Amino acid sequence: MNTIHVDDPLVFALPGNESVAVGIVDALEAEFGIAEIRDFPDGESYVRMISNPRDREVVLVGTLHPPNDRFMRIAFLADVARELGARRVGLVAPYLAYLRQDRRFHTGEAVTSRTFGRLVSRAVDWVVSVDPHLHRLTSLAEVYDVPAIATDAAPLLGDWVKRYVENPLIVGPDAESEQWALVVAEVADVPLVLLKKQRLADEDVHLTLPRVTHGTDRVPVLVDDIVSTGRTLVVATQLLRSAGFPAPVCVVVHAVFADGALERILGAGTARIVTTNSIVHSTNAIDVVPAIATAFDSSRRSSGGTGRSHRGP
Ligand code: R5P
Repeated sequence: MNTIHVDDPLVFALPGNESVAVGIVDALEAEFGIAEIRDFPDGESYVRMISNPRDREVVLVGTLHPPNDRFMRIAFLADVARELGARRVGLVAPYLAYLRQDRRFHTGEAVTSRTFGRLVSRAVDWVVSVDPHLHRLTSLAEVYDVPAIATDAAPLLGDWVKRYVENPLIVGPDAESEQWALVVAEVADVPLVLLKKQRLADEDVHLTLPRVTHGTDRVPVLVDDIVSTGRTLVVATQLLRSAGFPAPVCVVVHAVFADGALERILGAGTARIVTTNSIVHSTNAIDVVPAIATAFDSSRRSSGGTGRSHRGP
């Protein structure tokens, strides 16, 4: 994996991203920047950079969920940082939005992953994210014009399963989930099974379970990158329960959760659902900072930094 080298970074947290930003400040031995960020009553955003970014590397920490207004704040902060003399401005977006519409499925549709990638690339000099939803895309470079690094939370999910689930069976709800499920199964050193998924509409999901000849005494752990409507986890839970498994535990990277999704998943009979803090949510139990830290060149840290490191705000 390529890494980003940041020299003397000044880290700003977008609202709601403070805990991940503090982790990044610690990991990079960086300085926490102070900014005022708020919305006017009409919905427009106000941003004011209070810490001086002159000749500094600015790191903005802002997850992109929900993406539209979040992006505007990032664009305003990036612009003012440059106007005030920042050398470079990078974005750590633990959740990177607009990656699912990566082709024109119907005539006239906007390929939003391309357009959004161009917009972000004009705003910042580099991007770091966690498990971006690369389905038909092979890398972020297909839609981002600036260096864009995808880090991997699956080992952290595997550590969580190893610590907290006794006698698990890892279950990937579809072929795409294999990349995470496989790593989780390896880290936890337990077996894996993949379901087959057919999505007929946003909320219409069909799943099938391959013939399982053993393991129904194990606790199924459903591993996925995103929970959105929750239909995938609801249908998978129903399928596993009807096949005789105990109540499954769900372990997911990005807690997107559309309205009512959490209630639907819990109501379907799952034992528990846990997510990473790439998006702040009540189900967060796994910290993504160790994954994000792998995107940064560690030479500055090993040489002792500048000595101006401190926590805040
Ligand atoms: C599919 O491609 C993803 O990996 C997830 O399975 C999907 O986004 C989950 O969506 P939902 O919660 O709406 O079923």
